[in-house]
Amino acid sequence: MYNVPCGKSSCLIENREKLRREEVSTLRELIDALHEIFQTDHVNIDHVQDLMTSYKSNPVEWKKFAKFDRYRYTRNLVDEGNGRFNLMVLCWGEGHGSAIHDHANAHCVMKVLQGKLCETRYAWPAKSEMEEGVMIENGEELKELERNMLDTNEICYINDSLGLHRVENPSAMNPAVSLHLYSPPFSTCSVFNKQTGQKSMCKVTFWSKYGERRNREIQDARSPEDN
Ligand code: SIN
Repeated sequence: MYNVPCGKSSCLIENREKLRREEVSTLRELIDALHEIFQTDHVNIDHVQDLMTSYKSNPVEWKKFAKFDRYRYTRNLVDEGNGRFNLMVLCWGEGHGSAIHDHANAHCVMKVLQGKLCETRYAWPAKSEMEEGVMIENGEELKELERNMLDTNEICYINDSLGLHRVENPSAMNPAVSLHLYSPPFSTCSVFNKQTGQKSMCKVTFWSKYGERRNREIQDARSPEDN
């Protein structure tokens, strides 16, 4: 059973009876199937992962969302999932990477659409001291838990109970593109300093929405950035 806040979004719970294993063959079919399964308040996260796995990347279908920036990775909104999930295409130039971050109590399913991505997982920083009534991190370097190299069409899943992660395109030659589903959608998350575990809040924004670029001010405000 996964604990997610139940508000506008669906509860993602283990529900073996409801597990359906149908496959999708186009991005449109994937989006439609996701809308269908997120209509209920009891969504099986395995089913979401099965659907994301069954979609085989076809650049013709997602290239209109894949808007790159030469300096940083970009987040491009594909679908708002009736407020229950966000589906987005992330574009990673050569060597681009995210900060180490949490997922704001949301589920994150990520699939590589092009190239390879390296996901590095970290343990949450140890909380050790109270400072003016607020728990603070103990200043120790974050502990690396594992590193996963993901090839085109492979997926990974994370939520806050599994730790923090950082995603990067390790290639110096090739860009990478990935498809991410977050449920419930979130607009802020926490980013962490690898050396000290120090946490800070950051806004997550979109470089483009539905294939259209957004204005420069919004684009410049986006993060979490590489650190
Ligand atoms: C991720 O955690 O899925 C990648 C980073 C991001 O969403 O900006």
